[in-house]
Amino acid sequence: MITYRTEKNHMTFREQLTQKVKNAFTALGYDEKFGTVTVSNRPDLCQYQCNGALPAAKVYKKKPLDIASEVAEILKKDSMFSKAEACPPGFLNLSVSDEALTDFVRGMTNKEKFGFEETKTPKTIVIDYGGANVAKSLHVGHLRSAIIGETVKRILRYCGNTVIGDVHLGDWGLQMGIVISGIIEQFGIENLKTEEDRAKHITISVLEKTYPAKSKEAKENEEVMAECKRVTFELQKGEGIYFDIWQKVLEVSKADLKRNYGRLGVTFDLWKGESDTRNVTGKMIEDLKAKGLAHTDDGALVMDITREEDNPPLPPFILEKSDGAVLYSTTDLATILLREKEINPDEIIYVVDNRQGTHFKQLFRAVEISGLMKENLKLFFAGFGTMNGSDGKPYKTREGGVMRLEDLLNTLESEAYKKVEAAITSGEITDDEMKEIARKVGIGALKFADLSNHRSKDYVFDIDKFCSFEGKTGPYIQYSAVRIASILNKTDSTDGVILPPEGDIQRELFLFLTEFPYAVLQSAEDFAPNTLAEYIYQLAVLLNRYYHEYKVLSETDEEKKASRIATLSFASKLLSQLLDLLGIEIPERM
Ligand code: ARG
Repeated sequence: MITYRTEKNHMTFREQLTQKVKNAFTALGYDEKFGTVTVSNRPDLCQYQCNGALPAAKVYKKKPLDIASEVAEILKKDSMFSKAEACPPGFLNLSVSDEALTDFVRGMTNKEKFGFEETKTPKTIVIDYGGANVAKSLHVGHLRSAIIGETVKRILRYCGNTVIGDVHLGDWGLQMGIVISGIIEQFGIENLKTEEDRAKHITISVLEKTYPAKSKEAKENEEVMAECKRVTFELQKGEGIYFDIWQKVLEVSKADLKRNYGRLGVTFDLWKGESDTRNVTGKMIEDLKAKGLAHTDDGALVMDITREEDNPPLPPFILEKSDGAVLYSTTDLATILLREKEINPDEIIYVVDNRQGTHFKQLFRAVEISGLMKENLKLFFAGFGTMNGSDGKPYKTREGGVMRLEDLLNTLESEAYKKVEAAITSGEITDDEMKEIARKVGIGALKFADLSNHRSKDYVFDIDKFCSFEGKTGPYIQYSAVRIASILNKTDSTDGVILPPEGDIQRELFLFLTEFPYAVLQSAEDFAPNTLAEYIYQLAVLLNRYYHEYKVLSETDEEKKASRIATLSFASKLLSQLLDLLGIEIPERM
């Protein structure tokens, strides 16, 4: 066995190759920066390539092919490479020896996180996602935030950061004044005075009906709207009967939200909300005024934040409405102050609908101008596109209303139930078990469909396609994982010795397995899990091909059999670890 694994503990396979090629470049007197190795874009010719001889030729005034040939000569003597070939005009085509590849894969199997190297500079990161509004039903708009945010949280944690997920409830704006007014109208303020009274009347079904009805009324009637605004303002004083009612509303609403997010497998470390800024906004506004950064405009208190380079100009940042109420912008700015005080994060990432892009531009600019936060605090807007219906417009119910998340999940689970029921034809299974499988499949289908698109793009909700067991879908991947698990369940030992690849498919699988860190890192960098989703899908495809090509349980050569089992076992552990980053569960059977 060759012993090349000396330089660094957790180098990826490709980093090790790069190191070798860099060494060859420097041995010849060239800069090491030309030695970067990438995966070949001509897999028919070679597995990897290095194109550094082309730019090097310009620097050293030589022919690129000559430089590539010199480097190739050195690499040919290295047992890690089975091929090192210079090709016109100056490419370096590389393939690795099966021994080196196998040795690396074996090493991965018993390392923590399969050798994935955590960041050397871990950060404290707050992810602001979910963003549900109290007393309004969760709708599909909140769905993407929850799914993407949860995954980004898991990925950044996997990379070694301290990540805190905050749901940042919408619990302090006008919608609260609307709900409170609606509740008072229904039950009378006299009947809401005690804790028991409030507990009796303020239930989730009341809340669900109250907001839509009262908000419709307020939109149509100026006086009603004025009253709702007054209640909002009074509430924001933080005491009195409106505040008491609000507390109950918050409690009831939170319990319901937790249940719904739970169904999605989404959990938050913090259940803070806009309202938590209520003791901070006053002082913040005073500070901004004292700094001469806020002025009155048409009765409202605003910050001018636009700069010459802004095209179109950024609208002023509103801190206080003319009626004295604070709003979304105020609470968002104050929330950053609070997070600094309580968590002191290096970064805050907002996973919010693209349509709020301007708000976040304004917010980030206001932070910059205010000078109230530490200078090196990084703020990111990870915006996402809309989930559309087949008409290309944001997804609605059949009646044209906003689709409640709960209804959507029910629909998904019952569609998945049909598919699972049709697929599971043998063995005994209870209806509860079937339902549990359908839940995992339905949610997995939705999550994979959502996450396999770049977050910034819109996508079309197509339940039939999402739930299909074939094609690039969650259920296809889950099905592959279940198949492998069922093979492994029938064996006693999974820790046999992995032998060098028996053929092309296994070689391809090994090479692909060594690449997984890049999929995770790329997704982490851009807060875009689609790269990881694509990797997972490709891995499932390769595994399918692998176990179709090589029989496992019926193989009579014991060494081969043990090696195939060990290969599948490793790959399936990696697959489930990566699926977990996407928040997708693997059902017991399918
Ligand atoms: N509640 C908001 C909405 O429903 C989303 C909150 C996003 N986060 C934030 N810090 N603004 O649109």
